[in-house]
Amino acid sequence: MSILPNAGSGRVTVPEILSRKKFRAGEPPVTERKITSVTAYDYPTARLVDEAGVDIILVGDSLAMAVLGYENTLPVTIDEMLHHTRAVRRGVKRALLVADMPFGTFHNGAAEAVRNATRFVKEAGAEAVKIEGGERRMELVSRLVEAEIPVMGHIGLTPQSLNALGGFRVQGKSMETAEALVRDAQALAAAGAFSIVIEAVPREIAARITKHVPVPTIGIGAGPDCDGQVLVFSDLVGLTEGHTPKFARRYMEMAEEVRGAVGRYVEDVQKGVFPTDAESYHLPLGARDSAAVKNI
Ligand code: KIV
Repeated sequence: MSILPNAGSGRVTVPEILSRKKFRAGEPPVTERKITSVTAYDYPTARLVDEAGVDIILVGDSLAMAVLGYENTLPVTIDEMLHHTRAVRRGVKRALLVADMPFGTFHNGAAEAVRNATRFVKEAGAEAVKIEGGERRMELVSRLVEAEIPVMGHIGLTPQSLNALGGFRVQGKSMETAEALVRDAQALAAAGAFSIVIEAVPREIAARITKHVPVPTIGIGAGPDCDGQVLVFSDLVGLTEGHTPKFARRYMEMAEEVRGAVGRYVEDVQKGVFPTDAESYHLPLGARDSAAVKNI
């Protein structure tokens, strides 16, 4: 049996993610090989994202908006999340698969939260779960870790807190809230979280947090100094339309591409140029013009 972080399989594991952040006495930690993460919600995109070499595939509860058409992440259910996590599992061979615990599934006591998190591992093949919230999730994170379920934390703008926050805005802009974020991150790391997503936080504060916690930070709208980055798949490929935050860099315009392709197909059918003879099946040569065929 090997004690190497990824046991020679080429698969990304929790110990391998932890080992990316290197510590040298008297120096700030460094992550030379940054951690990359992208969300996925179904089999084909999971396969493509995995093949592209992403380290962590997150079945985010952004599923609610990106795929299911809800207005925010609050309505998505554990059954919907499990269904999509199973599909993603079938497409992922190399990346670490993390599933988001949706709103309401970890708020009613640690026992219920452990039961729900266990479903993601047992029924859907997730290798870790993500939980929104900082210091106040400390006990829960240790209970999950004790139950052998690795946990990714998520601080800063936590979309499940939409009603409490009164809207989506950058977090940690005052000294007081910035210090609270550092405490949140330290508490999560102390409780055993293996990584922490930092969302919509000033670059300078995310950099301080990254310097002060022993586990990798994964930024989204938190600047380039985090140990890694995560993007929502539909933002990255340009499927999201309407307002997108400034950090959501679009690497292609998929919505336009898809509309264009489907539009050309509709036109071709109407013009009678699709399908062509070469795109059709045929009877054997001798049978094509036979009287029997003509009489069908
Ligand atoms: O649900 C999600 O996609 C997320 C990422 C933005 C980190 O939580």
